[in-house]
Amino acid sequence: QLKKTDAIPLLMNFLLNQENVLCRDPTTVAAKLRKMVIGGAGKTVVISDFDYTLSRFENEQGERLSTTHGVFDDNVMRLKPELGQKFIDLKAKYYPIEFSPKLTMEEKIPHMETWWGTSHGLIINEKFSKSTIEEFVRQSRIVFRDGAEDFIQSLDAHNIPLVIFSAGIGNIIEYFLQQKLGAIPRNTHFISNMILFDEEDKACAFSEPLIHTFCKNSSVIQKETSFFHEIAGRVNVILLGDSMGDIHMDVGVERDGPTLKVGYYNGSLEDTEAMEHYEQVYDIVLVRDPTFTVAQKIVDVIN
Ligand code: C5P
Repeated sequence: QLKKTDAIPLLMNFLLNQENVLCRDPTTVAAKLRKMVIGGAGKTVVISDFDYTLSRFENEQGERLSTTHGVFDDNVMRLKPELGQKFIDLKAKYYPIEFSPKLTMEEKIPHMETWWGTSHGLIINEKFSKSTIEEFVRQSRIVFRDGAEDFIQSLDAHNIPLVIFSAGIGNIIEYFLQQKLGAIPRNTHFISNMILFDEEDKACAFSEPLIHTFCKNSSVIQKETSFFHEIAGRVNVILLGDSMGDIHMDVGVERDGPTLKVGYYNGSLEDTEAMEHYEQVYDIVLVRDPTFTVAQKIVDVIN
């Protein structure tokens, strides 16, 4: 009789034979998978970043796609070039700081607070309406990684909660999911920056605390959030991210089970130092992978 754990060596074999998969410590990965398979879907929660993790980094032509904040850069540039340029100038200044190998996290944090704070201030000042923002999303260059839609639906079908933990803008993710999936699946929850609207549905504030790349951890997770009862007892975590800021997204979920960390490396193939860094902090690194195949295979062995 076949046991569910028999699928693990097959999955490991698959992973180790993929050219674009890096796995520093296959023994540990197999051991984590074993605990997860034994625990099954009922003990599992998926915590995933959105920008450039659930969404694609670039299209087939190698052109960079949009982040949730980027939805404003593109659309505002079209409608109000002067304001659009302000968003673009902010990104040109702060994005290199976010990914600079020369600065420590402590040195980067004040810059991230200024970047997020300034761009959110511009959004509020402009009093964009909810329907305008929904239209911006419809016109945007946010694209799911191949298979990400099916991945979200399959988690829902197996009652595995999905927590989308994003330093982007949560409303934009909500509108995107509504537009692409028809509705937000019941299993899907958000920890993100939310635009708050006044009685006329105009943007009037952002939720607190501010979530930027380097505070994605227990410091911004509010335990009273309605879905916390749903993930209590889910001791096994699959964590999906694309940056160094994503590796602590599981901190704050109380439990003693393993976290399997899967990292999307969207950077340059020449930057071996950066790739080695990803290998140190993520159990499995997917190098410039536009698909959700590996994450789906992991969930399939657990179900
Ligand atoms: O960590 P996460 O991928 O959710 O972060 C959102 C991304 O949004 C950041 O990595 C940052 O580069 C980007 N961003 C942006 N415009 C802003 C603020 C952040 O594109 N105004």
